[in-house]
Amino acid sequence: MAFSIASILLGSSLILQVASSALPTSSRCCNLLDAEFRGGEKVVFPQTTEYGVLNTYFAPTSQQTPSCIFSPADTFDVSRAIKLFTRHSCKFAIRSGGHHYNAGWASINNGILISLSNLNKVIYNPTSKSVFIGSGNRWRKVYDTVEPHNVTVVGAQNSDVGVGGFLVNGGVSYLADRYGWAVDNVRDFEVVVADGRVLHANKDENKDLFRALKGGSSNFGVVTGFTLDTVKSNPVTNLYVTYPESSYDVLIDEAHQYFVKEEDVDSQVLFVFSLYFKDGVASNNYAAVLVYTDVMDLTNPPKVFTPFLDGEVPSSGVYVSGANKTLGSHGHQLAGVQHSGGRTTRQTVSIFPDAQLLKQFNKIWIKTAEEYKKIEGLKVDLLFQRIGKQWIAAGNAKGGNSMGLTKPVVILWVQPHWTSARDDEAVAELTTKVITRFEKAAKDAGKLSDFEYLNYAGPKQSLMSGYGTESIRRLQSVKAMYDPKNVFGTLLPGGPKVPGLY
Ligand SMILES: Cc1cc2nc3c(=O)[nH]c(=O)nc-3n(C[C@H](O)[C@H](O)[C@H](O)COP(=O)(O)OP(=O)(O)OC[C@H]3O[C@@H](n4cnc5c(N)ncnc54)[C@H](O)[C@@H]3O)c2cc1C
Ligand SMILES: *[C@@H]1O[C@H](CO)[C@@H](O)[C@H](O)[C@H]1NC(C)=O
Ligand SMILES: *[C@@H]1O[C@H](CO)[C@@H](O)[C@H](O)[C@H]1NC(C)=O
Repeated sequence: MAFSIASILLGSSLILQVASSALPTSSRCCNLLDAEFRGGEKVVFPQTTEYGVLNTYFAPTSQQTPSCIFSPADTFDVSRAIKLFTRHSCKFAIRSGGHHYNAGWASINNGILISLSNLNKVIYNPTSKSVFIGSGNRWRKVYDTVEPHNVTVVGAQNSDVGVGGFLVNGGVSYLADRYGWAVDNVRDFEVVVADGRVLHANKDENKDLFRALKGGSSNFGVVTGFTLDTVKSNPVTNLYVTYPESSYDVLIDEAHQYFVKEEDVDSQVLFVFSLYFKDGVASNNYAAVLVYTDVMDLTNPPKVFTPFLDGEVPSSGVYVSGANKTLGSHGHQLAGVQHSGGRTTRQTVSIFPDAQLLKQFNKIWIKTAEEYKKIEGLKVDLLFQRIGKQWIAAGNAKGGNSMGLTKPVVILWVQPHWTSARDDEAVAELTTKVITRFEKAAKDAGKLSDFEYLNYAGPKQSLMSGYGTESIRRLQSVKAMYDPKNVFGTLLPGGPKVPGLY
């Protein structure tokens, strides 16, 4: 009896081997992973409800078709999976909140998607004034956890955004002039590196890795948790001001003054210009978002805002989006109006502040969009803001990051929205054309910065090459220490890569 059971088992395992060697590698990897986690609910396959839920993105354009989706319950699960992936050369992608617009960054075809959404702990520590955040969280839960204690975090403007991608790629917050990039405020990273070890990276342990992870994207490991400083929670006021097209040149002159003067660290101004096309006819909307991160009296606004409010730049409307509210409440409000589900893409360019160049950009953006005006439902946004010397200095004071900025820049991003998948390629072409023309104009003016903010970058941009030689050398040496076989370069096909390793 015993003999025959053994032979049946032997026989079936042989059949299994034969069958699985005929499968594509990604399916074989999924089966191995499923077996490793004993067929539990952590590995889900296409055509199941769970798969459909986990494979939903803010922009449908960033979705792909993974062979299976793995949802680790904790850091230990991530470690086991990474060991399996390296042993069997399994391709994978890492997803936190799924808000990045680029297909193939937090999504994958023919590979395993690691979905971090169950790493969702948020623990405030009032003694150390810090908060531990599992990397699968959205900012909403972080704000909601810390703000009742009268503190906040340097987090996203929209509280629906994922924590993981936002932080590993930098993170633009309303509080950035005071505290630097959001990621500059990380005290400790908990990270699973290529050989499956769970490391902590902070100012005392794995110091090189600590700095590299600040802007290092997905090159060094799967970050499973962030311990973030909390900061004072001031009342925040947010004004939305619109301008007629005739105000454009003077608006840009005042924007330029605002960019170069850096007079008030509690202020931030974001410019949001939109072009809409209906039946091939264009209309536009020029707006500035004025954010003040301390008490502000509407009848006597801070001096830095007066040019935008008192008619030096004639405006067509001033709206109070929110007054004296926490950062979290502003974030929740924005999440309520920025809806997911529409087709969208984004590319970026950075320049050294220059008013003439911004005026030229306005013409280029309009002219290029006009060439594509027949695209159904086309709306093209152009947004820009400053990364100033206070912002950069705040990051340096906390040990510096990977992004390599030494001088203030203005980051711009072009963001089209459209209706049909049929036009995806034409829109990609439009976006690339605007950016290429911007780059040429900036280069001709001697004002082009190589920096490309990863969270606003398109899939085919130069990405980390813009971090500069010094930063790239440092990143290469950290790669040699923590990922010598370049697992996060070869088995993780998507996302920005440390240049010079391929
Ligand atoms: C509505 C909306 C509002 C936004 N507002 C802001 C804003 O205020 N400020 C700003 O700076 N940006 C903003 N963004 C851009 C946003 O920062 C990026 O889309 C960001 O990457 C989103 O993070 P995520 O976790 O959702 O990313 P995902 O799409 O899940 O991942 C993005 C990238 O990061 C990598 N990654 C994610 N998690 C990890 C991890 N734990 N370890 C290693 N690599 C990881 C992924 O592999 C992928 O390459 C906004 C985007 C949207 C759609
Ligand atoms: C937060 O501030 C409010 C108003 O100043 C105060 O009433 C409340 O007790 C504070 N809460 C904590 C947890 O400190
Ligand atoms: C915010 O509250 C203060 C009082 O604390 C008030 O003076 C100010 O006008 C308020 N700001 C706005 C924009 O409502």
